[in-house]
Amino acid sequence: MSDIKKIAILTGGGDCPGLNPVIRAVVKTAIEKYGLEVIGIENGYHGLYHKSFVPLTLDKVQEIIGVGGTILHSSNKDNLFIYPVRDENDEIVKDENGNIQYHDVSDIAVQNLKDAGIDALFILGGDGTLTSGRDFARKGVKVMGIPKTIDNDLACTDFTFGFDTAITVATDGLDRVRTTGMSHHRIMVVEIMGRGAGWLTLHAGIAGAADVILIPEIPYDIQKVAQKIIDDKKKGKTFSIVAVAEGAKSVDGKQVILKVREDSPDPIRLGGVGAVIADELESLVGSEARATVLGHVQRGGSPTAHDRVLSTRYGYAAVEYAMQGKFGNMVVLQGNEIKYVSLEDVIGQKTKNVEPDGELVTVAKAMGVSFGD
Ligand code: F6P
Repeated sequence: MSDIKKIAILTGGGDCPGLNPVIRAVVKTAIEKYGLEVIGIENGYHGLYHKSFVPLTLDKVQEIIGVGGTILHSSNKDNLFIYPVRDENDEIVKDENGNIQYHDVSDIAVQNLKDAGIDALFILGGDGTLTSGRDFARKGVKVMGIPKTIDNDLACTDFTFGFDTAITVATDGLDRVRTTGMSHHRIMVVEIMGRGAGWLTLHAGIAGAADVILIPEIPYDIQKVAQKIIDDKKKGKTFSIVAVAEGAKSVDGKQVILKVREDSPDPIRLGGVGAVIADELESLVGSEARATVLGHVQRGGSPTAHDRVLSTRYGYAAVEYAMQGKFGNMVVLQGNEIKYVSLEDVIGQKTKNVEPDGELVTVAKAMGVSFGD
């Protein structure tokens, strides 16, 4: 018999399609199978600190399986272990030199959970959010992690939910620029999200038949990219599709940074490499080039059927494992099996990256794709 009676769910970090189906699956399993009480924590860790707790009842999760975003809202700026000092209006306080001061407010969060009678905390997040999850587990909180991110860069799991939807959107983006690129004989450069990992660009690039795929794991030489397009032109190809990851690095190690968010625990926002590459290719190849940034379109909207199923499996399994007392873990997909792995192991490892000599890269190269290497 489990002593778990009341659980809470929190969604942290950048949102992605599939969060709502997970919430639905956790709520339905918890209430209908185990008669638990479920609390939603709004705005990620911000809500945990500020006690933004709302009851999650069955009616709240009706009709959300196909809805993007998260009904609980999210935040990617609230690491309670390194939390900016704020004033009574919740504005960040800076010292006389303009520097943000940080303090650890995690004990307040732990107390908030105790005060609300919450026995276990279900955390839906990527590596940042789940790093805090591991740290709360170390403080004795009963944590169950569920892996979310369009980047698919979390260790120990083959797939995170949200990834499939983002691949689908990015592939559609490549398909759409293809026809206009063909009409105008242009080089179409499409910038795809993924932070430091090239999974999304690699999958979408293969599915969208890109001629060039540039990912952070394989530094590119722009001369080689240009040469590939020139060679294709000589063979009669009148347009080119370049799928570039926002985190792509040139051989000299340069990455293009969009902005630095000093109030965020993960302050670097990548972006802009697509425009840089389009400019370079236009002058090196002598064909007109255009850049498209897919941006947050990849994170919004309805989850694919695949993500809805994966999210539902994760949500169900998370409750099952919690009722067996298996806390401090994250549910994972390995092969086609849902299992669990300690958050210590997930967070203790580097994020999961594309193997430059791996099977997918080999397959893409066999299709004639250049990685600029
Ligand atoms: O981690 C998910 C992700 O969408 C990355 O692919 C991207 O680099 C980042 O989040 C964007 O963050 P934000 O929503 O803060 O702009």
